[in-house]
Amino acid sequence: MQSQAYITQEQEAGAHNYHPLPVVVREAEGSWVTDVEGRRYLDFLSAYSALNFGHRHPRLIGAAHRQLDRLTLTSRAIHSDQLGPFCAELTDLLGMDRALPMNSGAEAVETAIKTARAWGYRNKGVTHDDAIILVARNNFHGRTTTIISFSDDPVAHDDFGPYTPGFREVDFGDLDALTKALEDPNVVAFLVEPIQGEAGVVVPPDGYLPGVAAACKAANVLFIADEIQAGLGRTGYTLAVDHEQVKPDVVLLGKALGGGIVPISAVVSRDDVLGVLNPGEHGSTFGGNPFALAIAREVIVLLATGEYQRRSAELGEHMLSRLRSEAPASIAEIRGRGLWAGVQVAAEYAPVRPRCEQALELGVIVKDTHATTLRLAPPLTIASDDLDHGLDVILKVLS
Ligand SMILES: Cc1ncc(COP(=O)(O)O)c(C=O)c1O
Repeated sequence: MQSQAYITQEQEAGAHNYHPLPVVVREAEGSWVTDVEGRRYLDFLSAYSALNFGHRHPRLIGAAHRQLDRLTLTSRAIHSDQLGPFCAELTDLLGMDRALPMNSGAEAVETAIKTARAWGYRNKGVTHDDAIILVARNNFHGRTTTIISFSDDPVAHDDFGPYTPGFREVDFGDLDALTKALEDPNVVAFLVEPIQGEAGVVVPPDGYLPGVAAACKAANVLFIADEIQAGLGRTGYTLAVDHEQVKPDVVLLGKALGGGIVPISAVVSRDDVLGVLNPGEHGSTFGGNPFALAIAREVIVLLATGEYQRRSAELGEHMLSRLRSEAPASIAEIRGRGLWAGVQVAAEYAPVRPRCEQALELGVIVKDTHATTLRLAPPLTIASDDLDHGLDVILKVLS
């Protein structure tokens, strides 16, 4: 079958909950994918950071094959020889006490919400059903009914009510607004992306994240950092909060934790927080399956070398400085950290979707977020000539 036939079949037999670029990929390696006609494209999206280590990294594929030949699924009704080591290795990497693996990013967020509420009732003494979780305006934490209840993106939110109560929004980057909201004694947590990915790679002002940590601590409120897109090397650090040496109470991971092979997410926290959960209160049949854990353990080994964080920092500096020095007039703002950039065009050049289609024709996969921003997130393993080639194409289509 040719590309158009696959696209038509998907249109006819699938739900229309995405608007993908018109390319049908058959295979991939490193930073490159190949479509069904044999055309090659450079991947500047990395499945929204799930492919931080590129497509089919040999160490990760090796770990997957070894585990596939031994044991794939147990459920949590019995133990596996992967869960204990995974939790120990991940908590060592992040300097935390306990980890709870789940599957999708949204599930990790849901897990954190439940844990924070239970912590509020059992440890902080909040009256039952009164817990409030603060979130940031323009957040993106996934698409379950509870999570979209506190989304201000009308596409994700409208027509999907009734909504889950117990959430309150504050402006992202505004420490005074947060401090004021924290005065309510029913607040149990502040859930925030350290850099807002879906909103367009929005980096908060310097000092904001340390301020969040201090304000939450003073109010006896959990600081939950959603590092699902920002974490695991993307910003030049293991976690985006490491840029300002901040230690949240709860860290959420997903995407790259599965090495671009499997969905796996995790909630990582202190003993007094994750320790509140009792048997039967939370779980998932595939959560913590040994196949995904074996791959995630290899991801942890890769990250422990520091090589990927270093590449991200060095190549990211090059990417951002090229974008800033060669920006055509259409570009209003360039934001980013590490190998992660939001290139925002001026309103009169929106929408940027046609620029993505042009880049695709020139062999580079890059995607818009909202109407005005291109989000660049090449694999952290990208060769520097490939990075420059991708940037040449992106600068050309924006000119
Ligand atoms: C910051 C953040 N949190 C949560 C999610 C949800 O992850 P998933 O799509 O795996 O449910 C995403 C997905 O883009 C994300 O960027």
